[in-house]
Amino acid sequence: MKQVEYKVRLVDNLFDTVDLPIDSDLKECLGVGARRLIVIDDTVERIYGEQLRSFCLRNDIAAKIVPVAANETVKRWDSVVDVLDAMDEFGIDRRREPVIAVGGGVLTDVVGFAASIFRRGTPYIRVPTTLIGLVDAGVGVKTGINYQLGKNRLGTYAPATMTLLDRMFLRTLPDRHISNGLAEILKMALIKSEELFVLLESSGRDVRLDQFQGSTPNLDEAARSIIADSIHLMLEELQPNLWEADLERCVDYGHTFSPTIEMHTLPALLHGEAVCIDMALTTAIALLRGYVTPSEADRIYAVMATLGLPLWNDVLTQPGILEQALAETVRHRDGRQRLPLPVGIGRHRFVNDVTAGELQAGVHHLQTAARGIAAVAAG
Ligand SMILES: NC(=O)c1ccc[n+]([C@@H]2O[C@H](COP(=O)([O-])OP(=O)(O)OC[C@H]3O[C@@H](n4cnc5c(N)ncnc54)[C@H](O)[C@@H]3O)[C@@H](O)[C@H]2O)c1
Repeated sequence: MKQVEYKVRLVDNLFDTVDLPIDSDLKECLGVGARRLIVIDDTVERIYGEQLRSFCLRNDIAAKIVPVAANETVKRWDSVVDVLDAMDEFGIDRRREPVIAVGGGVLTDVVGFAASIFRRGTPYIRVPTTLIGLVDAGVGVKTGINYQLGKNRLGTYAPATMTLLDRMFLRTLPDRHISNGLAEILKMALIKSEELFVLLESSGRDVRLDQFQGSTPNLDEAARSIIADSIHLMLEELQPNLWEADLERCVDYGHTFSPTIEMHTLPALLHGEAVCIDMALTTAIALLRGYVTPSEADRIYAVMATLGLPLWNDVLTQPGILEQALAETVRHRDGRQRLPLPVGIGRHRFVNDVTAGELQAGVHHLQTAARGIAAVAAG
């Protein structure tokens, strides 16, 4: 089996650091006393560019900073070419000059993909600046870009040498993107940790409104726990199965119908929003099978709403769309559904026998439940 090593480190206020610790991995990765190509999401550059430049100056990093537009609609081959051009122009030395990617999941995926194919593999460092980046895109080993209607259809397995997770970037992230990241955190809670679910139930709303900044000691503790637990749970699942040889992956929860939902509604729904709709639908299916009780389903739907996430989109009623999504998933999962369904809260099981009739019954149940939640929120 191929061995890989990659480091994920939690840091606070990275760009405010005056002197990076001598001899640390950090110093070497970030290129103290050397030069680095830094590819940065152009929105992040507008907000943090000045801080980044002065960070490089103070720490003796000769940086070439290249801003690149990054959002789901440009997560395509053209953006990869822009990054390849920047690497080529910089004259990257692939033995000692890792590319540094600063931005959300789109930017780190695009740079990771470009780095992984440039000279058959150039190292890269990730500095995620969104919640999805911190808890999901930044901790895995996959890179990907969209192709035709296929979400992440082109991609590679290419772990970043190091990923630096700094939640302070979240203070400028739009609310909707905070909720977007919370969807992936909720996913981990639903399939693996009732404890994390209870934490989201009690503090999720306040931590969301506080943008994970920890404005009070209680909020700080909750924000740190939510991020740390979710990363820990994610790494625990990913590590034994990095190359996805085992196709029964519980982290695929919420990702059976969501790729189709997301690509058919682009740009109306964000990734995490589509994932949440998938989780709401599969909760309904689990409820109808008796795996989840009505009161557990109500708690799950309520937490989704307090995290600012949608449970419903009309695309679910488009004829044949869910059957098509399931067929697509079966193709990717070597001929079987291998569909993770929640069992209670914090546990799951895989099933292979979901029928078209069951999908429709789930949609019907969810539509009623979502109307109920919306009425409560409005009233
Ligand atoms: N490789 C993986 O394992 C993996 C895992 C999960 C998700 N992903 C991918 O991640 C992508 C979603 O990532 P995302 O949610 O980070 O989206 P994103 O990269 O599009 O970022 C969201 C928006 O926030 C802006 N932004 C980024 N940081 C900011 C900050 N600190 N302040 C203000 N604005 C900021 C961006 O410019 C963008 O407009 C999807 O394409 C998904 O496929 C990959």
